[in-house]
Amino acid sequence: RYAEVAQAAPIEVFAVVKAFTEDTHEKKVNLSIGAYRTDECKPWVLPVVRETESAMAADTTLNHEYLPILGLESFSTAAMKMVLGEDSAAIKDGRATAIQTLSGTGGLRVAADTLFRVLKYNTFYYSDPTWGNHRMIFLHAGFTEAKQYRYWDGESRGLDLVGMLEDLGNAPANSVILLHACAHNPTGVDPTHDQWKQIAEVIEAKQLLPLFDTAYQGFASGDLDRDAWPVRYFADRGFELMITQSFAKNFGLYNERVGNLVIIIKDPSLVVAVRSQVTLLVRGSYSNPPNHGARIVSTVLNNPKLFEDWRECIRIMSSRITAMREGLRERLEKLGTPGVWDHITSQIGMFSYSGLSAAQVKYLVDKFHVYLLSSGRINICGLTTKNIDYVAEAIYDTVCN
Ligand code: LMR
Repeated sequence: RYAEVAQAAPIEVFAVVKAFTEDTHEKKVNLSIGAYRTDECKPWVLPVVRETESAMAADTTLNHEYLPILGLESFSTAAMKMVLGEDSAAIKDGRATAIQTLSGTGGLRVAADTLFRVLKYNTFYYSDPTWGNHRMIFLHAGFTEAKQYRYWDGESRGLDLVGMLEDLGNAPANSVILLHACAHNPTGVDPTHDQWKQIAEVIEAKQLLPLFDTAYQGFASGDLDRDAWPVRYFADRGFELMITQSFAKNFGLYNERVGNLVIIIKDPSLVVAVRSQVTLLVRGSYSNPPNHGARIVSTVLNNPKLFEDWRECIRIMSSRITAMREGLRERLEKLGTPGVWDHITSQIGMFSYSGLSAAQVKYLVDKFHVYLLSSGRINICGLTTKNIDYVAEAIYDTVCN
């Protein structure tokens, strides 16, 4: 049977990382996968994470016993409070419940499994464009109706609000609407508060189910409350909703797979039954989640001093990104690069949808060894004070050719 197996296409973002790693050119630059780099172009283990890990290693009361199927409770509760806020009515009323997951991706998969198998949803909508994995996660969970709503307006390099509202308005009732809480991946374009209100109105009127993918809380703006505003707005408006959280970016815990799924249900008496069904889904999939990363996050979120230290780390990361955005725009404009470049600073978070075409990306890779996704998405974190001139000049040359 193996002889009949067709070779699948590689996953682009990991294929680009591999090509970059194998490239021996001294000026090569990686602007592809969404991972933070210091100005020395190095991965950053946050000092507060190092400190917590050291304390954990020395703590002989800790061990490697199994966690419960739904994970480390001190972690998932703290993470839920982080996204919904300490004063969340949904938490106080017992309408919100949380489950530790295998990062944001695992949270999305558990959400999709629950939606499809337990709650019998079958249609989901995702933004055009969206993160490359969203569609596959839902299809693999069993959803058969995968639809897109308009999001990116190539002309204005901003949000196509009219198209988005129209597409959501035409979605059949009981469709799941996948939304990015902040720092939309790949565009870096987020709705304003007023636009979120209009989006919420359509979702409510059409009886759709919102699901927020929250992968950048705190990392986007440096402010946890600001980045969680849309999620809290929807929760306070009384929606039933799901929220997935990733701690890859904001804690730098990429390979520890630390995530959380929050479910808000109108009737709190139904929470126990829903958790029991999620328990079966997790048990039949990976049985129970790993401890290490979740314990780090739990320790930090539940300790006021460590929490403050961590907030300083996210401010450092988000300010470096803002500085790199400003630096790139300034250089492109100074060089007289054809086109308009103000979107680089108006977009938020790790990514910028540059507007470069697939052919231009190929040119950048081939001639300058500057690696990015064929969609033109730039990981701004890959820029440093040492390579930013080179990248700006490479983009200038590319656009002029
Ligand atoms: C990205 O978008 O580059 C990251 O979220 C990594 C991934 O898994 O795609």
